Amino acid sequence: MTIPKVVHPDEVYTERTTESLAHMERAREVMPGGMTANIKHFTPYPLAIQRAEGCRFYDMDGNEYIDYLMGYGSLILGHGHPHVREAMMRQIEEDGTWLFGTPHEREVTMARRIQKYFPSMEQIRYANSGTEANLLATRLAMARTGKYKIAKFEGHYHGAIDSLLVSVHPPQTDAGFHEGPHAVPDSGGMSSEVVDNAIILPFNDAKSCARILEQHKDELAAVIIEPMEGGVIAPKSHFLQKLRQITEKLGILLIFDEVKTAFRTAMEGVQGIYNVTPDLTTIGKVVGGGFPFGVVGGKAEIMERSSPLRGSDIFAGESSPEQQPCEKALFHSGTYNGHPLILAAGLATLDILESEFESLVMRTDRFREELSRIFKKHGIPMKTVGSGAMFSVLLTERNEINHYRDMQACDHDSRKKLDKSLFEAGVYTKPGNRYSLSVAHDDQALMQTLQAYDRVVPEALL
Ligand SMILES: Cc1ncc(COP(=O)(O)O)c(C=O)c1O
Repeated sequence: MTIPKVVHPDEVYTERTTESLAHMERAREVMPGGMTANIKHFTPYPLAIQRAEGCRFYDMDGNEYIDYLMGYGSLILGHGHPHVREAMMRQIEEDGTWLFGTPHEREVTMARRIQKYFPSMEQIRYANSGTEANLLATRLAMARTGKYKIAKFEGHYHGAIDSLLVSVHPPQTDAGFHEGPHAVPDSGGMSSEVVDNAIILPFNDAKSCARILEQHKDELAAVIIEPMEGGVIAPKSHFLQKLRQITEKLGILLIFDEVKTAFRTAMEGVQGIYNVTPDLTTIGKVVGGGFPFGVVGGKAEIMERSSPLRGSDIFAGESSPEQQPCEKALFHSGTYNGHPLILAAGLATLDILESEFESLVMRTDRFREELSRIFKKHGIPMKTVGSGAMFSVLLTERNEINHYRDMQACDHDSRKKLDKSLFEAGVYTKPGNRYSLSVAHDDQALMQTLQAYDRVVPEALL
């Protein structure tokens, strides 16, 4: 009897994706690692995509995939949705340009639309990414409180901002106890001062949070949190309410980073599900319809700090009658803030979502159940975590996943191996990443995915 050769998924991958490899070799000549964003990298090299439509995309070798990465969750209508396309064409035709560099109508229309779902965002500012939105939110908190440290949670990502690029993905060996996590930098090029100043909190552990926050209350401007960790780990019962009470009592502002979750976990975000009102909220991804966009909003008295009517502004040549002497307005600017074309795309996205979101969530729930059934049939422990139109597939026997460390204890190597094996069956997410569904993921695509799983799971994991 001949023993069948065990084929590593990378071997199949390299055979099918020679054009992606050739592309990456060219890209490496002009970009570090061939990348414009480190997050796009995976081994042995990422797929280079050439064309997309609906829920599918095609790589440079012509291979077809059902895309579950969906622009890291941004494309909730799928690729190239006609309503978004038309709205953008209309914006250009009606306005005659795509950038005014002045106030314009869509800025207010979008703000009102966001407030319909996020009433906590009493006043709103636009930025060009989730990262920029968080940069503004933390500065607003500092201006409001006169304190200069920000506490963040272990395992939470808020963009590449020095003070927040700490303990996003710490190795367990360096991170100390869960109840009092050490700060671990996530990047080269960060000063030791940034790490020394970082205050790290454990998710879903209100008692430890209360202790750490009490200890640092005099230096803390704000706590920033992904209220659904990584967009997929739910807060325990009353955790967010307790965090709200603790921060209020200690005079620390609470920032909800809902960049991943706004209009994806629920139209009203995690704050809507759990009925908790943060002081400031940042959103991005879906609300920009797949374009670079970020939004900060919150209590008027905090947001007002950035009003140019308030005090001297670095570029202002004149003072306003309301100006209070010796007070600087918090500086926030950006050539492209409130970009008309992006606002048109975002508004068109929300138009469609308003009627489609509920059925998208129902389809996602059914799909998760079917996936679980397949793993059960093959006797492989698996759990999906998430909410709304986003979830993660975890290979684990654990019943409860409460925070980053529980997540780390799952079998990530096998998950990545499975994901690469699924490529060959035409199913794509970046290995190890979340599944983000879109309204374009129809029954046929979901069925094709389930059939692929049914075939690949035993091949890859048994
Ligand atoms: C929760 C969260 N905050 C902030 C960001 C940064 O957003 P952007 O990539 O638009 O800068 C991300 C990106 O994934 C995110 O998931």
